[in-house]
Amino acid sequence: MIQGLTSRSQIGIWLLVLGLFVACDSSQPKQAVGGGPTPAEFQTGEAKFNANCAACHGNQGVGTDHGPPLVHKVYEPNHHGDAAFQRAAANGVKAHHWEFGNMPKIDGVTPADVDDIVTYVRWLQRQAGIQ
Ligand code: HEC
Repeated sequence: MIQGLTSRSQIGIWLLVLGLFVACDSSQPKQAVGGGPTPAEFQTGEAKFNANCAACHGNQGVGTDHGPPLVHKVYEPNHHGDAAFQRAAANGVKAHHWEFGNMPKIDGVTPADVDDIVTYVRWLQRQAGIQ
């Protein structure tokens, strides 16, 4: 009887230890998208994206109420090559894929800035498994 109680509480302790172990395990490093650091080579593009595009396309390109996600199959390189990004920034975009309305042309960016932004967006797309 006493023996039985002891081994049952031992099992309880083991389950507790196991639970703690599993809890610690879930704090393993996450993928970069979702909070991890952006590699140095994409940080210039990230800063320019955040300053000029994120208001509509969202942090890390996930989209907002004002614009579509760029981390999306529609915008992978085969569907929207890098020239589409240059055109979008230089001329704006007439609404055609979505219901967000038109994208205005973005005055604050040069073609070189857009190159940096595209490099960053392509990286986000790769992280998301889109390319
Ligand atoms: C004021 C909101 C807004 C801002 C700021 C904005 N966009 Fe957009 N963008 C949109 C909307 C809305 C669309 C979707 C139009 C559609 O296809 O319906 C879009 C579409 C696009 C497209 C797809 C173009 C195509 O050919 O279909 C690209 C690429 C793009 N944006 C890049 C950018 C980049 C790069 C920046 C920053 C330099 C930026 N956008 C800033 C609203 C915005």
